This record gives sequence, structure tokens and C-alpha cells, in this order.
Amino acid sequence: MKIQFHGHACFSIITDNGTHLLIDPFITGNSQAKISADTLNPDVILLTHGHWDHIGDTVSIASRTGCKVICIPEIKTYLTGKGLSNFHAMNIGGGYQFDFGYVKMTPALHSSSIEENGQNIYLGNPAGFLMKIDGKTIYHAGDTGLSHEMTLLGNANRIDVAMLPIGGNFTMDINDAMLAARALRAKLVVPMHYNTFPVIEQNAAFFSNQLLNYGVLCQVLNPEDGFDM
Ligand code: NI
Ligand code: MN
Repeated sequence: MKIQFHGHACFSIITDNGTHLLIDPFITGNSQAKISADTLNPDVILLTHGHWDHIGDTVSIASRTGCKVICIPEIKTYLTGKGLSNFHAMNIGGGYQFDFGYVKMTPALHSSSIEENGQNIYLGNPAGFLMKIDGKTIYHAGDTGLSHEMTLLGNANRIDVAMLPIGGNFTMDINDAMLAARALRAKLVVPMHYNTFPVIEQNAAFFSNQLLNYGVLCQVLNPEDGFDM
């Protein structure tokens, strides 16, 4: 399996048999992005929540490719209104065995809505994803504050990779993400959701060094960097 970062909270996971999972595809309008959304051809898009910096390019990518969108029912209804039709709706605590692997929707301490014409459209609860793919366990926390749920996830799973927000302001900052990493007992942590906007500027190298003090490995990825596992 290959994991590739596209900036902000957007990752591609390419399974051993070539299935391309794309999480939170915010490319257009992301100053950190190095690619065009037109170049992404996922088989599946997974959405953690409905904020604009996570739904991102979902409508254009899914319209073009016909890929399946995995999301909470409220986002399914919203995106159906945008012309999409290939969905798998899930809700928090629920998991499903897809042909590419197992996906469980996990809790996130955040909100979820999208603004249109000056109104916030409610888009259900925010979430994260716990994925079991090619014998590895991958956790994408979504946008979240530090929560006790992470201790439970860490106790119940052997997490190989955890993508954790570190930007602060809207999510956990570096200090809380360090506590999250230890609660999750992740073998490897990949920081996300930082440096995209001025209010979420963080020093990922400092985070990485601090984690090492606790014996936790950290992989800081620049957009379009990735690794095999
Ligand atoms: Ni958000
Ligand atoms: Mn966000």
C-alpha cells in the first residue's frame, strides 16, 4: 500500500491491488497544493465532514470519475443535490467491509456544515476513519479536538499510521496531538491540517522531535510526498 499526502487533510491511499482511496480532497484553493484536482482519479472518496476545506473538489472529481463517495448521510443528501449519485453512507461507530478493506467511521470533536448564500447548511456529525487495508490499520482523525475516544481506539486497535491534525485553532494543536498520539499508541504519526492558513501555522519538525522523546515515530510529509508500507 502507498500513502501520499496532497496537503491539508487530503491523502491518497493506494492499495496493493491498485484501488485508489482519496480522503478529504481539498486541492483547488489550497495554496499548499502542488497538483490540480483534475489529475486525481480515485475509485473512492472518503469525507470526514462537510467543511469546505474537506469536501473541497469532491463534486468535480466524483462527477468526472464516477467514484464512490463514503460519507455521513447528511453529506450524501447534500452532494446528491449537487448531482452525485454513487455513495456509501455510514455513521459514527459503524464499519463496513468493502472489497478494498474495512472502514469504520470514528467520532471527532468538531462541527460540520457548509455555507451557501450566507446560511450554514447542517451536514451531520464530523468523523474520522479507521481503515484496515492490506493488513495495516490506518487512522485519519479528521478535524478534531483531543478526546477520550482516542484512548479507546488505541486500546482496541494496533494502529500502524495515524494522521492527526496539529494546526490548532480549529483542531488539536501540537501539544494535544502529542497526547492523542500516545493515547492512540500509533506506530507512526503523520501530521496534517497545519500551515494552510495563517491561524494554523505550526512547526511540524518540532512536533516530530517532541514525539520522538516519547518513542513515537513521526513522518512529516510535504504535499505530494508519500511512503510505502
Ligand atoms: Ni473542519
Ligand atoms: Mn478543516
